[in-house]
Amino acid sequence: MTIIVGNDHAAVNMKEEIVTYLKELGHQVVNYGVDTAQSCDYPEIGEKVGQAVAAGEGGLGILFCGTGIGMAIVANKVRGVRAAVCTDTTMARLARQHNNANILTIGARITGTEAAKDIVRTYLESEFEGGRHEQRVDMIRDIENR
Ligand code: RB5
Repeated sequence: MTIIVGNDHAAVNMKEEIVTYLKELGHQVVNYGVDTAQSCDYPEIGEKVGQAVAAGEGGLGILFCGTGIGMAIVANKVRGVRAAVCTDTTMARLARQHNNANILTIGARITGTEAAKDIVRTYLESEFEGGRHEQRVDMIRDIENR
């Protein structure tokens, strides 16, 4: 799968570790994030990744910032994006199974690299369950259209 990633200055190292991990798992990666520690504005990067994922440029997206919160707030402003900040594997599994989250966000100042790898792997291996959850995701889409 092609994974679209993005990050701000707070998460350069984590992004790099996770990109390496994604490639080890056999995924292709498109990187919209920054690669230096120079301060930047996470809304610009979150919007780019949100638009790319919503446009179907790749499969799923992963965004990193200090907490994961700012990137989730930004990405969720893009129509068609369901971004979920996850701090453990249960959240990652349910974000896919119940919410059909198409972007995972992780906080590099909150979550350690090894835990982040487990979260990413769980997120990518989990599948949307549909059924009653489909109806609820449709309701979210309806809100976007109102
Ligand atoms: C940058 O200092 C920090 O605010 C950002 O990475 C993120 O945590 C925002 O939600």
